Amino acid sequence: MGRVVFIGAGPGAADLITVRGQRLLAQAQVVLFDALTDPALRAIAPDARWIDVGKRGFGHATGQQAINALLVAQAQAHDRVVRLKGGDPSIFGRLEEELQALAAVGIGFEIVPGVTSALAAAAEAARPLTRRGSGRTVSFTTAMTHLGALQARRTADTEVFYMAGLQLPALAAKLLEAGWPADAPVSVVSRAGWPDAIVSEHRVATLADAGALHAGRPAVVTVGAGGAPAAASSPGTDKAQGADPTPAT
Ligand SMILES: C[S@@+](CC[C@H](N)C(=O)[O-])C[C@H]1O[C@@H](n2cnc3c(N)ncnc32)[C@H](O)[C@@H]1O
Repeated sequence: MGRVVFIGAGPGAADLITVRGQRLLAQAQVVLFDALTDPALRAIAPDARWIDVGKRGFGHATGQQAINALLVAQAQAHDRVVRLKGGDPSIFGRLEEELQALAAVGIGFEIVPGVTSALAAAAEAARPLTRRGSGRTVSFTTAMTHLGALQARRTADTEVFYMAGLQLPALAAKLLEAGWPADAPVSVVSRAGWPDAIVSEHRVATLADAGALHAGRPAVVTVGAGGAPAAASSPGTDKAQGADPTPAT
């Protein structure tokens, strides 16, 4: 019986994985990987068997129970199994279910954290998530409930919404219902960390404008203090900082 190493691959290009993640990935015999991980990571463990268990908010999906069963079966057959997840494994990554499946049969594990999308988006947009004086709290929220309903909240100075990419116009209405002012700043970043990342800047009332620009791309939506342009950021970045939605490349 082996053990499973959960590794956060980061949200984009392969070099966003941590040094520890890279070292442990290189030792893998089997890698179960998600759709949003960079195929270039295969070069780190070229002799391992790579199994696609990718799930997306849209398109092909491998059921979670099937993934759990496959993970257990691979760990029973191999010494070194890696479960490679996009971003950080503990953020909206169904990590709990997979840990429970391993615990049920006594399989050991290790978790290597990764860069979650909210952080990559903040870097991409040059919009710090905390702001001295105005942004003391940050919340990571999934816009979709486990029943598939769209839901917005206002629980922090900066609220970062995951999994809203398909429903940005509807999210704008939910944000207003949740108490966000119509002129609250919003930053939308899709494919953060990839060379073709797109950053766009909005207000809650105009968030619907982002729908077409980011269509079909994984995106996070940052609302409130951390969604505003940083006062002195323009000279240091070539990313979009103006009023117009602009590709980051
Ligand atoms: C199932 S969640 C997984 C989150 C992941 N564990 C993380 O820490 O980033 C998938 C959602 O993460 C966000 N996401 C993933 N990759 C992204 C990227 N490169 N840029 C922007 N958002 C991303 C999107 O909101 C997407 O719908």
